This record gives sequence, C-alpha cells and structure tokens, in this order.
Amino acid sequence: MDLQPTFHNKIALVTGSGRGIGKAIALHLADCGADVIVNFLKNQAPAEETARQIREMGRRAIVVQANVAKEDDITRLFGAIEETFGGLDFFISNAASGFNRPAMTQKVMGWDWTMNVNARSFLFAAQAAVPLMEKQGGGCMVAISSPGSHRVMPDYVAVGASKAALESLTRYLAVELAPRNIVVNAVSPGLVETDALNFFASLKDSNTIPNAIANTPAGRLVQPEDVANVVSFLCSPAAAMIRGQVIIVDGGYTLIVPR
Ligand SMILES: NC(=O)c1ccc[n+]([C@@H]2O[C@H](COP(=O)([O-])OP(=O)(O)OC[C@H]3O[C@@H](n4cnc5c(N)ncnc54)[C@H](OP(=O)(O)O)[C@@H]3O)[C@@H](O)[C@H]2O)c1
Repeated sequence: MDLQPTFHNKIALVTGSGRGIGKAIALHLADCGADVIVNFLKNQAPAEETARQIREMGRRAIVVQANVAKEDDITRLFGAIEETFGGLDFFISNAASGFNRPAMTQKVMGWDWTMNVNARSFLFAAQAAVPLMEKQGGGCMVAISSPGSHRVMPDYVAVGASKAALESLTRYLAVELAPRNIVVNAVSPGLVETDALNFFASLKDSNTIPNAIANTPAGRLVQPEDVANVVSFLCSPAAAMIRGQVIIVDGGYTLIVPR
C-alpha cells in the first residue's frame, strides 16, 4: 500500500530549504506532487540545486532569498509567492539559526537574533501566509522545533527558549486559524546530522553521535527524510484532526531515562 500523500496542484513554502532538513522536506513535498518555493539566507548555490532537483521531478520551483527575521523580507517573500503561484497551501517554518553559548555569557544581540529567526519569523510569516492560504480554501503550517524547547542542552539557552516560543505559537495559531481551515502543528526531530551540528563545538571530537545512536531504541540517527515524511503526513488530509501538536521524531531517544 502506497502511504505517500498526493499533493498535485499544491504550493509549498519551505524556509531554509537549500540544505539539511529543509531540503529533504522540499524534495519530499515535490515528490508528492507539490510546487515549491525554496528559501535561503546566504547560500544561493545549494538553494538553486534544490530547485533544480524539484524541476527535474516535473514540478515548479522558485528560489527566493529572504531573511525570515526581517519583516520587509517576509513581505517580499510572500509577494513573490503571490506573483508566481497566486496562493499557498503549505508553509513549513524550518529555517533556524542561533548564537550558542552558556546562559551567563549570552548577549542581547545573540538572544534577539535567535528569537527573531526561530520564533518571531513564524508569527509574522504566518500572518502573511494566511491570505494566500484562504485563496486555496485553507492550508497547513508545520514548524520545525527541537528537543531543546523543554530539555537542557549545552550552550543552547537561546535556541531552546526560541523553540519553546515556537511550540507555544504553534498552539495559539492552531486554535486561531482553525476556523479558516488552516491546520498548524510542529515536528521536533532528534539529532540529525546536518551542517547545523558543526556549530556545536561540544559535539565535535566527542562521542555524542555514537552515544546518540547507542541510546536510540530505533538503533540509528534520525535522517532528514524521516522528518520530511512526518511533515508531509501533517500536510495530508489524514492528519486533519491533529491540531497544535508537537510530534517528536527521535527514534525513541527521549523515552530513556539516563542511568
Ligand atoms: N540538525 C539537527 O540535529 C536538528 C535537531 C532538531 C531540530 N532541528 C531543526 O531543524 C531545522 C533545520 O535544521 P538543519 O539542521 O537542517 O539546519 P541547517 O543545516 O543549519 O540549515 C539551516 C537552513 O536555514 C536557513 N536559514 C538560517 N537562517 C535563516 C534566516 N534568517 N532566513 C532564512 N533562512 C535561514 C539556512 O540558509 P543558508 O543555507 O542560506 O544559510 C539553511 O538553509 C531547524 O529548525 C532546526 O532547529 C535540527
């Protein structure tokens, strides 16, 4: 039985989709039939490569540079979507960034940057997405969170707080947007080997990844495609009664109490 949803004639925005998990989500939604808006901040070449792969599948793709932390950029991004596609069905808030350091040495600039990219962006991009989704008769939003929203990870205070805010926004938007036929949820992946991990000095030269595998009941690290599968399920009619939830995709890692 083929469980892959069908998204023909659907239009999807995936922020931060040139690399990592965002790229896997963009390719998966395209593989299900959706046209995709690929967004990046600084790295154009990988974003163009994501779009090339989507077009190779016979789908439409545009690439839009935009810093999701900036209101003007959000306006320009959604303007480009309206101009090219006329509407939007799926908004996947995946882009994230962070100044990782201990709480006692965190800076105002690092806090503001992290909160604005990871959390504030979801609220204001959602405001811009709603009119485009209403044109389609409704839509789905999925925010990509992290276990740092409720667990304490090294140097992760700003990102953790931003992800907690993101999960709270998910619940508020799920309730407020339900009457407009817009479904809002979040996905929280366990450790996924992407470029993001290179910024965690504590992960380099350590046993973090082998330990994570050893402590994951499913026996392996989460792959970007595992996250993409759950995102596309949450965008499908089969998930219509899941609202405002944070779905953990970690192979059971957080179930185990360390001895
Ligand atoms: N990797 C993990 O282990 C893990 C675990 C749990 C949750 N997550 C979450 O999963 C999501 C994706 O993570 P990842 O590991 O795939 O990240 P990544 O490899 O670092 O990629 C981040 C993506 O976000 C884009 N981006 C960053 N800041 C942006 C901004 N201000 N505006 C627009 N785009 C921006 C980057 O664009 P450029 O290419 O232009 O820089 C890049 O495409 C994030 O929300 C992250 O918190 C990851």
